Amino acid sequence: MPIRKAVIPVAGLGTRFLPATKAQPKEMLPIIDVPVVQLVIEEAVQAGIEDILLITGRGKRAIEDHFDRSVELELFLERAGKPELLREVRHVSELADLHFIRQKEPRGLGHALLSARQHVGDEPFAVLLGDEFYDARQPCIGQLVDCHAQTGTSVLAAMRVERREVSRYGIIQGSREGERLHRVEDLVEKPAPEEAPSNLAIAGRYVLTPDIFGYLENLGPGRGGEIQLTDALALQNQATGMYAYEFHGLRHDVGDRLGYLKATVLAALERPDLHREFRRFLLEVTERLAAEGAPSRRSGTGRGRG
Ligand code: G1P
Repeated sequence: MPIRKAVIPVAGLGTRFLPATKAQPKEMLPIIDVPVVQLVIEEAVQAGIEDILLITGRGKRAIEDHFDRSVELELFLERAGKPELLREVRHVSELADLHFIRQKEPRGLGHALLSARQHVGDEPFAVLLGDEFYDARQPCIGQLVDCHAQTGTSVLAAMRVERREVSRYGIIQGSREGERLHRVEDLVEKPAPEEAPSNLAIAGRYVLTPDIFGYLENLGPGRGGEIQLTDALALQNQATGMYAYEFHGLRHDVGDRLGYLKATVLAALERPDLHREFRRFLLEVTERLAAEGAPSRRSGTGRGRG
């Protein structure tokens, strides 16, 4: 069955990025001038998915406004004779067939997903976490859609992480069935490094079969007291099996400060209108840093200038 629908949970509080995310959603943080959530939606659209449900929460109004028409702004740009900006602004509101639903309380990813049940109905669907985006020739979610077409099961995006980082991810115990394909044997959400069955982590892209809702519905709180999607997946795996696919491409975790910085720098290096000057600037800075020596020998840390 083709994948026609995607769900993008954007209800998380963004505590890793305070104070910037106190009054604005973390998913609206821009990579230069495009909010992350727009990049996520564009990924789904590139994979041929145009029915997209965003699960929002309190304080996420800016996301709805971003994808709505902005009549005043359009009028202004038209009168000011700025056709390119006008096209850009209209493009955002015409990207896809977007739907919004609110998660009433922040009770975890699994709980958020459960509120998509009615909209999704009885067909397999894609899930894209709204605070990470992927740089890949074929969109990451498209790679999973192809994989699902072969297996017919749920498919998780997977990636290798450092051992000391396993406690930030759902971790996969699996057996390799192809160059990038693993049959899942078990899943555990955010284990301690000494308890992790591997360093193969779940990334923020999934294709799920709709029976996942039955498992989510009956689930008690898991890690961190939240309803965890990973726990429901582990139950679904016991019943019907599933696969994990080590995707091609680069993942950017924008909810993380360093991840955000790296994503922004790489994006600037790829932008035709910016890359030349920005590259020159980076070279100057790195030369200066090299001349100054290692950070431990320099005075000042953190936010101040020392
Ligand atoms: C969620 C999932 C986790 C997965 C991660 C990928 O965690 O629960 O299994 O590895 O996304 O980013 P979160 O980052 O929302 O805590």
